[in-house]
Amino acid sequence: MSELRSRTESRVVRRDYSLTGPDAKAAIAAGFENADWYQVPIDPERLKVLMTRRNGRPTFDAILWAVLILGFGTLAFLSLGTWWAIPAFAAFGTLWGSSADSRWHESGHGTVFRTSRANDVLYSVAAFMMLREPTLWRWQHVRHHSNTSIVGLDPEVTIKRPTSFTYIALGYFNLVNGPKMLWKILQHAAGHCETYTRIIVPSDRLRRVVWEARVFVLLLVGTIAAAVALGTIGPLLFVGLPSFYGAWFMWFCAVTQHAGLREDVLDHRMSTRTVHMNPVFRFLYLNMNYHVEHHMFPSVPYYNLPALHEEIKAYLPPPKTSVLAAYRELLHAVRMQQKDTAWEIERGWAPPPETGADRAGRAVKVEAGPGEIELGPVEMVAPGRLTPVEVGQRQYVLCQMLDGSYAFFDGLCTHGRTSLADGYLDNCVIECPKHNGRFDVRTGQAVRRPAVKSLGTYPVLVRDGRLVVALELPEDQAEDQPEPAGPAVLSSDRAV
Ligand code: FES
Repeated sequence: MSELRSRTESRVVRRDYSLTGPDAKAAIAAGFENADWYQVPIDPERLKVLMTRRNGRPTFDAILWAVLILGFGTLAFLSLGTWWAIPAFAAFGTLWGSSADSRWHESGHGTVFRTSRANDVLYSVAAFMMLREPTLWRWQHVRHHSNTSIVGLDPEVTIKRPTSFTYIALGYFNLVNGPKMLWKILQHAAGHCETYTRIIVPSDRLRRVVWEARVFVLLLVGTIAAAVALGTIGPLLFVGLPSFYGAWFMWFCAVTQHAGLREDVLDHRMSTRTVHMNPVFRFLYLNMNYHVEHHMFPSVPYYNLPALHEEIKAYLPPPKTSVLAAYRELLHAVRMQQKDTAWEIERGWAPPPETGADRAGRAVKVEAGPGEIELGPVEMVAPGRLTPVEVGQRQYVLCQMLDGSYAFFDGLCTHGRTSLADGYLDNCVIECPKHNGRFDVRTGQAVRRPAVKSLGTYPVLVRDGRLVVALELPEDQAEDQPEPAGPAVLSSDRAV
């Protein structure tokens, strides 16, 4: 424990983790809300490869997962009434109530399959298995990524300070969050969306929350009715209860993610933990043990996280070498924070100096013409490559699609003003690197939430072998346009 030390005098000050309390107001006043987070430098070409989605590998994983659930479910059914039912249900329940968590999580980011529809199907199924209302939890997780471990802004803080060991123990049976989730489902099914839900979910999605809750209630009531009709608890052991008795592994992994580490810091290296795990755990947990890497680059699919770790590990704190090592650290922190809530784990590690090219230093300047801006020769872009362009104070992105045509569009995501030049382009759809919102770059239309508002798009012409963009804005956007364009600054290409 030599790497652990007290940061302040011993004292217990309970912080308010609710989204409406004084700590929330203080966090907003301090500028933490939707702030920019630190990202380690990474070669854009390499990041492009790591962000690439596939269908083959995740399909194999999904089939294997389904076969295991069906297999152990069958064994559990056949062994009912015998002692063999205990290990059979333990395995079935873990696959249902724990490994569905990471499937829910990854498909919620939209990064599992290349095919969007497949992500949506997996998301809906896994959400029910975890008793997580799909729309509520989707938006809740967006806030978690915007405000990770910021007290009062992050709705998914697992271990609040101070916490008790009883609280941690209850989590292994989903008795911390499970009853609250069921209560929320009932409230929503009755048509009542309480303050928390109204804060998390945009008002135009609240009807959807209500109808999803009604579907959940229908499925759960149907299972209870089957149990009553058959005079056995059997049906509930397969639907409903696995989300409790099978949740131990989900909680076992979840507490390693952030517990004991720093709060209120805009650097995931300080608030988040990466833990080495064995291949079985990594299959169940879909590589979410690479948690710093996931938070820093949420557009990288789970199957590429080990490679991402190798790529950037020089800039990261040393990962915990095992789950045991992580628990030793976090349980000690919990103990210390019971006496002093300001106590935090100090890893004895300092971020190394960054190497690599400086963005501003790589910038290329081009002249801007009246109304039209000449960007440069056509060779300056290639299919799949994103080129950030700055015109005065405004940011844009230039790219070429697979059919050879060009697109030029606003460079900041309409959801949280994140730079889209760092995003992932799949033919004509660009994905925001922060919350995986997507836009069609030909029309600017938002095609995946949380992005809702369209981007501005501008026609690109090829004139004498040079790319020219007409930057006139539609009338309803004209007042947002900055002063007449000065020289355009063409930042160096960033491939995706
Ligand atoms: S900032 Fe949230 S989707 Fe772009």
